[in-house]
Formats: sequence, C-alpha cells, structure tokens
Amino acid sequence: MESAKTYSDTVVRQFAIVTILWGIVGMTVGLWIAAQLLWPVLNFDISWLSYGRLRPLHTNAVIFAFGGSALFATSYYVVQRTCHVSLFLPRLAAFTFWGWQTVIVLAAVTLPLGLTQGKEYAELEWPIDLLIAAVWIAYGVVFFGTLATRRVKHIYVANWFYAAFIITVALLHIVNSLAIPVSVGKSYPIYSGTVDAMVQWWYGHNAVGFFLTAGFLGIMYYFVPKQAQRPIYSYRLSVVHFWALISIYMWAGPHHLHYTTLPDWAQSIGMVFSLMLLAPSWGGMINGIMTLSGAWHKLRTDPILKFMIVSLSFYGMSTFEGPMMSIRTVNALSHYTDWTIGHVHSGALGWVAMISVGALYNLIPRVFGRDKMYSTPLIDVHFWTTTIGIVLYIASMWIAGVMQGLMWRSVNDDGTLTYSFVESLEATYPFYAVRLLGGALVLSGMFVMAYNVWKTVEMGRRIEAVPVLEPA
Ligand code: HEM
Ligand code: HEM
Repeated sequence: MESAKTYSDTVVRQFAIVTILWGIVGMTVGLWIAAQLLWPVLNFDISWLSYGRLRPLHTNAVIFAFGGSALFATSYYVVQRTCHVSLFLPRLAAFTFWGWQTVIVLAAVTLPLGLTQGKEYAELEWPIDLLIAAVWIAYGVVFFGTLATRRVKHIYVANWFYAAFIITVALLHIVNSLAIPVSVGKSYPIYSGTVDAMVQWWYGHNAVGFFLTAGFLGIMYYFVPKQAQRPIYSYRLSVVHFWALISIYMWAGPHHLHYTTLPDWAQSIGMVFSLMLLAPSWGGMINGIMTLSGAWHKLRTDPILKFMIVSLSFYGMSTFEGPMMSIRTVNALSHYTDWTIGHVHSGALGWVAMISVGALYNLIPRVFGRDKMYSTPLIDVHFWTTTIGIVLYIASMWIAGVMQGLMWRSVNDDGTLTYSFVESLEATYPFYAVRLLGGALVLSGMFVMAYNVWKTVEMGRRIEAVPVLEPA
C-alpha cells in the first residue's frame, strides 16, 4: 500500500505504460499517412480515414498522448525523488491520469470525425479544451504542491524545467483556445485575421519550446546524470541555460509567419530571437553530453545511455537547423517543403522520442521493483532500429525538401516556371518511400520495447511500495 511515507508510483507506472501504448498508436498513424502520400488509395474513400483527418490524429497522438504521458510519468517520478516526499494529493494525480486518457480518447474519436478548430496542434474543440484546462490545473496543483512540501532546501534544476513547462502550457492553451461556441462540436476563435495567426504561432512555437523542449530538458537533467552515474557537468550552466531558454523562446513565434501579412518588424523580431535561441539550446546540449566526460566508456556497453546521448545530438542538430530556417531568405526556400518535415522529426523523433525512451528504460525497472530491464540486447536492437530509421527519415526529407524548394523557384529565360507542381511531386516519390522505410524501422523498435517491458514487468508479480528516501 502506498502512503505518505512511500512514493506514489502507481500513477508513474500507469503513465509509463501508456506512453509506450500511445507511442505505438501515434507512430502507426504516422506510418499510415506516410504510406498514403505514396499510395493515396489507402484512405479507402472513407472520409474518416482521409489524410486531412489522420494527420492531426498523428500529431495529437505523438505529441500529447505519447510525449505528454512521458512528461507526466517522469515529472511525477523526478519531483518525488528530488524533493524526498510522496506526491501532494495523490488522488488528484490519479485524476490527471484518467482525465488525460479521456482527452486522448476524445481526440481519437473527434478528429477522424472532422470536428476541429482548424488550428495546428490546437485542433480539439472547446469541450475537450475545457477538460484539458482542468487536467492541467490539477497537474500544476500536484506538481507545485509536491515542490512546496519538499524536505530539502533547494529545487533541483530538472524541476525548474518541468515547472516552466507546466505554467507555460497552461497559459498557451488557455489564451490560444479562447473561442465562442456555437454548438457542442463547433466554435469560432475570438481572434481573427493576422492577430489569429500570430496568437496561433505564438502558441505553436512555444508548444515546441515548452511542451517538446523544456519538459524533455527536465527529463535530460535528471535521467542523463542518473544513467551515467555522474553529476551534471555544470550546475551553473544549467541555471543560465534555464533562464536564457525560457526568456528567449517566447518571442520567436513569428518565424512561422515569414512573408505573410504580419508586419515586417514582427517577422524580424521572430528571426532575431530564433538566432539567439541557438546559444541556450547548445548550452543545454553541451551540459548533457559533457555529463559523460570521464565515463565515455559506458557508451560501449549501455544502450540506454546511447539513446540519451544520440537524442542530445539530434537536439543539437535540430536547434542549429531551426535558427537557420528562421532566416527569412532561407525560409523562402524551406517553407512549404518537406525540409520542415525533416526538421520536425529530427526534433520530435530524434530528440523527444529518444530521450523519452531512454528515460523509460531507466525508470520502468525501478517503479516495478525489478533490478533491470529483461533484456539489454533488445534495448540495443531498439536503439539501432530507431537511430537508422530516424536518419533515413530525416535525410530523405531534407533532400526532398531542398529539391522541391529549388524546383518551385526555378524559372526559364522567358520567366515561365521550369517545372510544374506535379513534376516536383513525382520527383519526391522515391524519398517518400525511404521515409516510409525509416518510419517502419522506428515503429518496429517500439514493438521490441513493448515486448521487453512486458517481460520486465511480468504481469501479476507483486510490486512493493518504495519508502521515501530520507534527505542526506
Ligand atoms: C514512426 C514514426 C513517425 C512517422 C512515420 C511519422 C510520419 C509523419 C508524416 C507522414 C507526417 C505528415 C507530413 C506531411 O504532411 O508532409 C508527419 C507530421 C508530423 N509529425 Fe510525424 N511521424 C512519426 C513520428 C512522430 C513523432 C514521434 C512525433 C512527435 C513527438 C511526430 C510529430 C509530427 C509533427 C509535429 C508533424 C507535423 C509537422 C508539420 O506540420 O510541419 N511524428 N509525421
Ligand atoms: C532553436 C530552436 C528552434 C528554432 C529556432 C526552430 C525554428 C523553426 C522554423 C524556422 C520552422 C519553420 C517554420 C515555417 O517555415 O513554417 C520550424 C518548424 C517546426 N519546428 Fe522548429 N525550431 C527549433 C527547434 C525545434 C525542436 C527542438 C523541435 C521539436 C522538438 C521543433 C519542432 C518544429 C515543428 C513541429 C515545426 C513545424 C511547425 C508547423 O509548421 O507545423 N523545432 N522550426
């Protein structure tokens, strides 16, 4: 039985297991839409299965169901271990689990039905938005309540990142979702025109910065040192990293709206802040990677550490690429092309998915009371299928993207276009096939993980509650 003297790990176990489940579901939908781009007949002429409806299902499932569950699981785990207390209001934590799962199921039903607000990454209609807000506020109460009741003086840096992620996502979600309902399944945003676009991409970019980055940096700051069994390389750098990252991210959103009706000065601010973002992003990456200094040999034998280090490398790569793409003249080439899709997945698969998987391999045996994962060689298999799959995915999209951008802007001497759009599409097909192969490899790795976790947990074996560790 869990009590105030033991960690509240039930909710951690639940979120950890559903992370794998939703990872498989979300990536399966990703693979399906990747296949639809090659073979459009795969929508079977059924509106529910059309590309336009399955694509938001994919993004919502991977970001909010898979990524979100990983963030809930790890933040609840980390805040208890670093504060030396059990969760504040564990029943409210249980509500966040069931509430979040309800949101996911409602999304999986309404998106294929075509019920959408039409805002990317904020598609869900207002009744679901209200539930999200309730769950998120409950999450904040549990997390900050646990911080407030901590038995050590200082707050470990991972919690700073989780805290910023929780506060900012609440703010983003509530402001961007303000809408006037006209029926249960339909509403209109209170913003219009350019203002609507600006609010949406203030939300969209900070969803990347705080949902897909700050929270996962919280994971990095706890699990990389734990797995490497070394202290974080520089605590001072982590503090600078935190403040620089959160203060710069907020202003970079307009890079999504280059060459639009947004005033030029606003576009330029977005570009300049995006360029500045390179510094804290790389500071964080270096802090993570250098934590291994003196322990590099562990990379030879520990595939969990390999997941973490490669994820940090992808983080560094995507946060170099992002600032470059925010330069207006570069964006003129990359926007609308598959280059953006390559960038997205080097961040989302390379960084987000790999750091989550690495952290789960560390966390799962501990919260299920096992010594270690059932099979280390299977983790290695997962590592290689994922890494090769991601490289195939992003390399094919980079090449396809640059090729599309160049084909679209190519003009003959008489000023007419050299290529029709369909010609550029035809030229892209081989790259879509390579992306499909890469995605299939990544997904197959998730099944290997699910098997390994299943064998580790061995359903039905008794799990003892773990006593809260006394502060040193
Ligand atoms: C097996 C793995 C995956 C496959 C095969 C896959 C495939 C795809 C495909 C085909 C698209 C649509 C591209 C287009 O419209 O041209 C897409 C979009 C997207 N995916 Fe994935 N995906 C995978 C994993 C993930 C993961 C793990 C995440 C996030 C954690 C993610 C986040 C996104 C996002 C944010 C978009 C929208 C990008 C944009 O609008 O620019 N994907 N994915
Ligand atoms: C310094 C950090 C970063 C900067 C400055 C940056 C910048 C950019 C730029 C300029 C675009 C293209 C916008 C367009 O042409 O429409 C973009 C798209 C995107 N980036 Fe990043 N990026 C960064 C890091 C990341 C990371 C780490 C991730 C994922 C974890 C990510 C996810 C995305 C997504 C999902 C999109 C597509 C948005 C959409 O149109 O739907 N970015 N980013």
